Amino acid sequence: MIVTDLRIRNFRNYETATIRLSPTINLISGPNAQGKTNLLESLVYLSLTRSFRTMNDSLLIRSGCEFANLACVVHDQKDIRLDAVIHSSGKTLSVNRSPVKKTSEFVGLLNTVLFSPDDLGIFLDAPRDRRRLLDQEITKVSSGYLFALKGYRSLLKDRNSLLKQFHPDESYLEVLEECMADAAASVIRERRAFVQSVNRNLTGFYQKLALDPLQADLNYHSCIPDDVPEEGLKEALVRLFAESRAKDIEFKSTGNGIHREDISFSLNGENVINSASQGQKRMVLLAFKLAIIRYIEETRHTRAVLLLDDVLSELDRERQKTLMALIQQPCQCVITGTEFPDYLKTGDYREFCVEEGTITGGNA
Ligand SMILES: Nc1ncnc2c1ncn2[C@@H]1O[C@H](COP(=O)(O)OP(=O)(O)OP(=O)(O)O)[C@@H](O)[C@H]1O
Ligand SMILES: [Mg+2]
Repeated sequence: MIVTDLRIRNFRNYETATIRLSPTINLISGPNAQGKTNLLESLVYLSLTRSFRTMNDSLLIRSGCEFANLACVVHDQKDIRLDAVIHSSGKTLSVNRSPVKKTSEFVGLLNTVLFSPDDLGIFLDAPRDRRRLLDQEITKVSSGYLFALKGYRSLLKDRNSLLKQFHPDESYLEVLEECMADAAASVIRERRAFVQSVNRNLTGFYQKLALDPLQADLNYHSCIPDDVPEEGLKEALVRLFAESRAKDIEFKSTGNGIHREDISFSLNGENVINSASQGQKRMVLLAFKLAIIRYIEETRHTRAVLLLDDVLSELDRERQKTLMALIQQPCQCVITGTEFPDYLKTGDYREFCVEEGTITGGNA
């Protein structure tokens, strides 16, 4: 898929900007603090209906304005027009100018994969942030996943409220647990499929980028052992909730379940937090992002739009070229930086310059 047109109004430091993107390489240059990352953020917002920098949407609205307006045209077999209006009290989403009620009808129509220097935080972030990343990636390709996840969260809330009562009704707990097990089994199935897909490609990408022979793995720390087959997941979850019940009643909260799962990365079996160098961590992350692109390709049969925020400047020339080769053209890339090497300026590329929220250029 590609984004052909992007229109931004009153978003971050942009008053108004309209750009026509190249289907291949788009280079966004400009000095610091001018709006390069804000531009990528607008595309991520249209993809996920949330920012990667803040959970507070009000911060996205240009200072002094009442709402921000983002619109783009995505071409993926046919043209789809996406609109997002961000108000201080919420957001309004439309597809082909018809408002949609559910976020799940909007998310996934534009798939983006962002490469950002902030990605390195994932190793040290709280498990909740890693789960959010996992959920975000899977949601891009599966609206059923979001449905199951939301269902589980709502049941979990009910179970936790019940656990806080003086004498919780155990038969009602049992009913809730059965429903939770149903939703959680779907979530685990999709999390497993994501991790397996990533692992099919992670080591290959890592070795090419890092130029070392280590095996890179994404590890899924699930509440259900890996050897439980898919058809046994629900039963195993029902058992897990039942076995934890006495303790959960004591602690007045659900201690076990998919809301406590985590992921980690390892090199030759060793968690990267413990021993990998900064450079190796960076290569693991780049390899992870490349593997996500493949996962989207395998499941959605389309190429995501790649957003590279100031990532090339952190790599030496050889690794920059390896990364761009692994990205496998043709695919649409929007790349920010302060200056760009000539090898990126080939074919139907376009170059833009951002200064104080104003975009110029666009003609190769
Ligand atoms: N809601 C907002 N209203 C107005 N301006 C904002 C808003 N949010 C952020 N900004 C401004 O946007 C600018 C930062 O933009 P951005 O992060 O895109 O910079 P950048 O070009 O990527 O810089 P760098 O090269 O340092 O990464 C800052 O000057 C900030 O004050
Ligand atoms: Mg930036």
